[in-house]
Amino acid sequence: MAAAVQKPSPAYPLGSRLDDDGRLEIGGCDALDLAREFGTPALIVAVDDIRARVRAFQAAFAARTDAFEVHFASKAFACTAVMRLMAEEGLACDVAGGGELHMALKAGFDPGRIHLHGNAKSRRELEEAHAAGVGHVVLDNIRDIERLEEIVAPGERQPVQMRIAPGVSPDTHPSISTGGPNTKFGFNLDAAAPAIERVMASDRLDLEGLHIHIGSQIVDLAPFRPAIAALADLGDFRMFNLGGGLGVAYTEFDHPPSIEDYVAFKVDAVEQIAGPGKRILDEPGRALVANSTVTLYTVESVKRNVMTYVAVDGGMSDNLRPMLYGARYEAQIVGRPGGGTRCHLVGKHCESGDVLIHDADLADPRAGDVIVTPATGAYGFSMANTYNGQPRAPVVFVSGGDARVVVRRETYEDLTVRDV
Ligand code: LLP
Repeated sequence: MAAAVQKPSPAYPLGSRLDDDGRLEIGGCDALDLAREFGTPALIVAVDDIRARVRAFQAAFAARTDAFEVHFASKAFACTAVMRLMAEEGLACDVAGGGELHMALKAGFDPGRIHLHGNAKSRRELEEAHAAGVGHVVLDNIRDIERLEEIVAPGERQPVQMRIAPGVSPDTHPSISTGGPNTKFGFNLDAAAPAIERVMASDRLDLEGLHIHIGSQIVDLAPFRPAIAALADLGDFRMFNLGGGLGVAYTEFDHPPSIEDYVAFKVDAVEQIAGPGKRILDEPGRALVANSTVTLYTVESVKRNVMTYVAVDGGMSDNLRPMLYGARYEAQIVGRPGGGTRCHLVGKHCESGDVLIHDADLADPRAGDVIVTPATGAYGFSMANTYNGQPRAPVVFVSGGDARVVVRRETYEDLTVRDV
């Protein structure tokens, strides 16, 4: 008799299946087969999950307003193939600098739908963005204004937004809270009014709207209201760019707002506070990609030193989030789900802080087991590194039972390729 199908935790990609006998399927592909075919560690991306979340954002906006644009915050998964998928789905794109701009152009985004951010843009980045014809440069500071005015030729104009720090701090990790008054991002409310006046007077810059991004992994939406109110107080602008921030479920215990509730909250707040007919831009990153992806690892050793340590073949080189933000993930052994053994799931890197999950609960872990951690699609690949000479993991797209590598595994040769 076929094994009964269980529902995997909501941290897994949409459409994942878990049989009673532990068989795990992502995008219609068997997880153990994927580990065998592509090796570990590997990032497995369920393409249909990303498409579904993109469409949910677009539908949620379309249900409430005609004047909107969803921008993929490409830093969340700065991989050309993922960016190409977003372009295909009709999203615009936010880039954090010249490198992401290069990738966004390569991924096929229309330059006019790319928007350049950054609190320390170089002159070269501003020149490249303007020359490429980006939709907006998001001005962060006076130096941006000065430099862009120098770069734009007489008679030409560059559309811009201005990033405002609205003096609102959402409840999230301090490292990813960006809207308070004392922040490195944007103009705070004291600095905003004269800077806006200056840009409005410019014959090279077209100020089309104001921007906020108050933080990331936000699960309480309330702070968006005072942040929007702070923008509305700064003038009668046609366009509001509300940044990203929607939190996701990293484990079965997380209950973030739905995409629909998040969009409704923001759109309603703009309408109620600033009036109808405003064009609303939103820049989701994490909420589009986090749950699309699982990481597969292989257990290299299991030891008991007071606690049980289960060590895998990756770690802080492929997922820095537990170390930087104390982020909590869940894990299971592929083929042997469930728990029974309390352990620390640790990486292979040469420092004690390289712990992927403190107090994980695994089912009798053994060397050679394949471990899966869901919800690794956001800021995992983007912040990956080669610490200890660890080659970076490949990215594998899965859909309808097919799997294809879109970023190959890094090689030892790659580690020395820049040597001169
Ligand atoms: N817009 C701007 C201007 C941003 O700076 C960010 C993220 C976003 C949009 C997208 O935010 P999201 O929807 O993903 O929350 N490395 C950290 C996250 C840093 C977020 C930086 N800015 C992490 O792994 O949690």
